[in-house]
Amino acid sequence: MLYDEIIKIVTLAGELMLQAQDEELTVFDKEGTANFVTKHDKEIQFYLIQNLRQLIPEATFLAEEDGMQQELGDGYCFIIDPIDGTTNFIFDYKHSCISVGLTKFGRMLFGCVYNPYTREMYSAVKGEGAKLNGKEIHCSDKGLADNLVAFGTARYQTEDTDRIFDHAKKLYLNSLGIRAGGSAALDICRVASGANGVYLELMLYPWDYAAASLIVMEAGGFISTAEGGMITLDQPCSILAAGRQCWKEASQLLSE
Ligand code: IPD
Ligand code: CA
Ligand code: CA
Ligand code: CA
Repeated sequence: MLYDEIIKIVTLAGELMLQAQDEELTVFDKEGTANFVTKHDKEIQFYLIQNLRQLIPEATFLAEEDGMQQELGDGYCFIIDPIDGTTNFIFDYKHSCISVGLTKFGRMLFGCVYNPYTREMYSAVKGEGAKLNGKEIHCSDKGLADNLVAFGTARYQTEDTDRIFDHAKKLYLNSLGIRAGGSAALDICRVASGANGVYLELMLYPWDYAAASLIVMEAGGFISTAEGGMITLDQPCSILAAGRQCWKEASQLLSE
């Protein structure tokens, strides 16, 4: 089965992340403050593309370390973040993941997000629900007052700093507390499992949220832009992911 084969490849790529713990990391700077890439981001991306291409030879790839060069098109397209949470990876936080989504006609068909440190594999097939290590997961059906809220910021996106902390303060004051995990894909998947009530970030790229967007929707949640619009898979956007009740309350608060 195609999706099981993708999960196998992503799990094996996770071993490459774990092996890196015994090695000295080679870190390169990208544009702006604290925007890093390591030799391992590039190697894992290469490994994923080589192996996924064997499953669907005609597929195209939208992958972070190649940038936004590829259009999704109508055929199969893999959307890949080889390491989501590169800064966590560099600092040995053990909260980073591999994210692989598959689209056809520009829509999500399948997504998986794997944290090799905890061996947690989140996955979803369109129309078939969301799973964590093979067991069904669901978003919280409670409101903000009974949930934790997670948010993300990137130090290199300085134009959003005031706005994200204003939003985070509002959500904090109306919830049980706030978290910033440093891996958007994992933190959105934690909305799908009910650990987070909400995830908010003001600027993300499709590889950060493509797979997780299907996982959260299949878990019964909503994912939109911070303003409540449709998310885009062919260009960056803001992300508000939540269980239904939390989404209603959070989008109301953010618009005030
Ligand atoms: C980043 C992480 C982080 C988020 C940033 C992303 P990367 O991805 O998801 O949590 O706040 O906006 O760029 O660069 O580690 O793959
Ligand atoms: Ca990056
Ligand atoms: Ca990312
Ligand atoms: Ca990345």
